[in-house]
Amino acid sequence: EATKGAASRGLAFGAIQAPAATVDEVVVPTGYRWSPIIRWGDPVLAGGAAFDADAQSAEQQLLQFGYNNDYLDILPLDDTRGAAFWNGKKQEFGRTRNKGRGRDKGPKGRDTARKALLVANHEYVNPAIMFSPTSDPAVLAEQRRIQMAAQGMAVVQLTRKRSSTPWVYSPVNSYNRRIHTGTAFEVDGPAAGSDLMKTIDDPAGRTVLGTLGNCAGGTTPWGTVLSGEENFNGYFRSAGTSAADARYGLRDAETSGGWEHVDPRFDARSAGYENEPNRFGWIVEVDPYEPTTAPVKHTALGRFKHEGANVLLAPSGQAVAYMGDDERFDYLYKFVSTDTMRNGTSSKDRAFNRTLLSTGSLYVARFTGDSPAAEIDGTGTLPADGSFDGTGEWLALTLDGVSQVEGFDDASVLVHARLAADALGATKMDRCEDVEPSPTTGHVYIACTNNSDRGKDGKEGATEINPRLSNRDGHIVEIAEDGDDATATTFTWNLLLVCGDPAKNVSTYFAGFPREKVSPISCPDNVAFDDSGNLWISTDGQPGTIGYADGLFKVPLTGAERGHVQQFLSVPVDAETCGPVIHEDDEMVFVAVQHPGEDGTVAAPRSFFPDYVPAGTAPGPGQSAGPRPAVVQVWKG
Ligand code: FEO
Ligand code: CA
Ligand code: CA
Ligand code: CA
Repeated sequence: EATKGAASRGLAFGAIQAPAATVDEVVVPTGYRWSPIIRWGDPVLAGGAAFDADAQSAEQQLLQFGYNNDYLDILPLDDTRGAAFWNGKKQEFGRTRNKGRGRDKGPKGRDTARKALLVANHEYVNPAIMFSPTSDPAVLAEQRRIQMAAQGMAVVQLTRKRSSTPWVYSPVNSYNRRIHTGTAFEVDGPAAGSDLMKTIDDPAGRTVLGTLGNCAGGTTPWGTVLSGEENFNGYFRSAGTSAADARYGLRDAETSGGWEHVDPRFDARSAGYENEPNRFGWIVEVDPYEPTTAPVKHTALGRFKHEGANVLLAPSGQAVAYMGDDERFDYLYKFVSTDTMRNGTSSKDRAFNRTLLSTGSLYVARFTGDSPAAEIDGTGTLPADGSFDGTGEWLALTLDGVSQVEGFDDASVLVHARLAADALGATKMDRCEDVEPSPTTGHVYIACTNNSDRGKDGKEGATEINPRLSNRDGHIVEIAEDGDDATATTFTWNLLLVCGDPAKNVSTYFAGFPREKVSPISCPDNVAFDDSGNLWISTDGQPGTIGYADGLFKVPLTGAERGHVQQFLSVPVDAETCGPVIHEDDEMVFVAVQHPGEDGTVAAPRSFFPDYVPAGTAPGPGQSAGPRPAVVQVWKG
């Protein structure tokens, strides 16, 4: 089966058997190979040196690829026209859309097979496996500065000779870029310039240094990248006394990273920095094709623990961004732009499109099930109508930037979006991770990764949309907007998957596909689509639940194969599978391998990915004896 897959076009494969969680390998299907494209510490800017664990410095880290890569995209690059070849639709890589034009020519004969831009988030750091412990205050301070330089985002150019072959990253060129804790962001939207955004360093409330907790993201139809600031609260020591502090998890306690000892703005108790935490928890937009444009924080999309944002164009041309707040019992949101996207490719049109997320309406979701509550028993057993399903509505927090929630003005409804959504009675979800509309059908897929607290200690119990108590394995929601219009305020929904290992858990559900024929899957996190419209799901937490390594899975959404979950790859010990990027026509798959060996130390590593330097051998130039997060490419070979 696997051999046949390797011989045919596209990404056919025989599902792998997931290895145990302790296996320190990347496992790919028969007929495929893998290699790292870029690793933590690889130089990406002029002056950057090859990684040397013993000589790492903040100065070098600013010039190198960051830590814990999460969101990933590999975007086509036509060097002669820059971003101008984006016209509302991502162009394909290479050969298949124009079979008569030769192997390596893209649409309209342009060569989009040989150059690309890799864009990655660097969500957080793992100091215990990055640094040896120290009691020297100067060394500790430098380690903290390295951490601050290792987070954020990266843009890196890739090259290769022909399509469907491995990429090589280019260490120095005009597109390469590092965004980190010191990078200046413009603030726009209704909360920009409000009192809630002002600090002693930025009395205008319109410029923020840095981005934090950049988890998932999305590439827009106009060719920019959105990134979600997720667990920003953990970087701040705060008064912790207000309702907003409590709702956002801001506490008066020393932070684990200790950055408040290096930079006073991370201590929001200090005079003038009370609002610094309000300046994080946003969706940020970066234009990888225009390296000199400042990244932007879009306050119109609300402030919460943003997993990411993915945009679909409505029939009207309005941009609709779907977003999850990844916390137990938090919410699903969408933003609808007031303006419509321009299809022109001039830099003027492009600049206009970068303002689409500046003004619009923000909604939060309320779900209603169609089965009697008595039939939702908390085990995940299907109700009598055979489906977890129902209807829903989008409740307006703002309309064209104007607050719709009593007691909140146009700025506070966004800065304190969670409190405003509480007031509207939004539905408490089981941790919405990635939320992504299918480019093929417009249906929206929501990875609810798990919720160990559902039904515990007086917390909300099982409902049709979140049907399991102590939801260990997670589920996937499928939404169809009414009228197939992404701007609609009502929708229908059903659960596509109720995850778990069907061999051990009979309450699993795979859209009606025979459960004995699927790969076990738990804790869905990031999602992506291939060129045929199949959904790909990566996982974060399988080892703790079903015992197998985390991995990447494909699931068809239509026809007889709907619900047929098949595992494509797995990642090394302790690692989470991020990205993913599926270039079906180019026959390539990419994942960001995040936090390999996370539970080890420098002295006692648990993973040796990706260099796998043999024990007792000195690492070669640029290599590491210990684990490093890295972007991995998979190809047929
Ligand atoms: Fe950073 Fe919600 O995962
Ligand atoms: Ca039902
Ligand atoms: Ca995630
Ligand atoms: Ca996760």
